[in-house]
Amino acid sequence: MAKYDIAVIEGDGIGPEITQSTLSVLRTVCSSDCLNFLTVEGGASHFQKSGEVLPQETFEVCQQSHAILHGAAGLPGVTYPDGTEVGNDLHLKLRFQLDLFANVRPIKLYPGVHSPLNTDDTVAIDYVIIRENTEGLYASRGGGIVLREEVATDTLVVTRKGIERVARFAFDLATKRNGALRDGKRRVTVCDKANILRSYAFFRAVCDEVAKDYSGIEIDYAYADAITVHMIKRPDFYDVIVAENMFGDIISDLGAATVGGMGISPSAELGDFHGLFQGAHGSAPDIAGQNVASPIATILSAALMLRWMGDRHMDNTLNDAARRIEAAVEQVLAKGEIIPRDLGGNATCSEITGAICSAVG
Ligand code: IPM
Ligand code: MN
Repeated sequence: MAKYDIAVIEGDGIGPEITQSTLSVLRTVCSSDCLNFLTVEGGASHFQKSGEVLPQETFEVCQQSHAILHGAAGLPGVTYPDGTEVGNDLHLKLRFQLDLFANVRPIKLYPGVHSPLNTDDTVAIDYVIIRENTEGLYASRGGGIVLREEVATDTLVVTRKGIERVARFAFDLATKRNGALRDGKRRVTVCDKANILRSYAFFRAVCDEVAKDYSGIEIDYAYADAITVHMIKRPDFYDVIVAENMFGDIISDLGAATVGGMGISPSAELGDFHGLFQGAHGSAPDIAGQNVASPIATILSAALMLRWMGDRHMDNTLNDAARRIEAAVEQVLAKGEIIPRDLGGNATCSEITGAICSAVG
């Protein structure tokens, strides 16, 4: 009897192949009685067949499992009458209904991976973006107003509870890390537009209140426009960045681009009781089924999943498995022989999977 149930939602586009790749790595690194994979339906292609993007059965399996592993969801052209995409509701419904309030986006430059920020590969990048994941501008998903095809509005909503818990998550994370690469300082940077909008001034004020409980952590501030410059010019200054939902969505893609792209960027979407783990990229339908997608972001997300489960269940075999997966990915990338296309190589999804499974040892 396996110890942990993992809900698996392959989703759309490249989702099935990168999910299967990740399951191969997990089966290699974990003993057969550790993880039980429960594959369930969801996403835009399922909606096209059934009219449901997140079936109730899928939601219940996700709710009852120890963690959720997801490939990718969304297909262009599969939209609601209001023009918004259907597939994204797989993520959004799970985020809101399971209250996954902290979207953890590690931004890390691995040895062997070229950053577009410099030619001599000397730049060091290792920080984490914590994106509030259940309110902000996304609170208006499905609730925006469109009047007479002339006026449209979406409201940005921030709450004291929502800000406090995501800020506390960011400060707790900074406490566990070793500080920014530039100066070793444990630092939380609040990304907002407090200079312009009251909602962001409130976001900053609540972060300031939380900061008082963390005397060893430096608080720093950056406006959402300015931080895009700093993330390019001085990425090693950052340790942990906390941002409202929409800003977090935007700057996390910029951060991913500085360390090789979306194909290498994992994510962990965490609440008090549930965790969803997926690559930060999309479904890339244009390359689906061709065995050319990189599974690395999903594999690294699975490592985040094992570490999160290991901490929650005080099971060091999971933390050890996470470390082995991350070490294997680093080893394959540093070796430079099996490199995914999005990092300048020509390795297939299968070749990358095989190399990581071999390296995981
Ligand atoms: C992300 C994606 C999602 C978002 C979409 C797929 C709903 O862009 O996870 O960053 O907008 O949050
Ligand atoms: Mn995004």
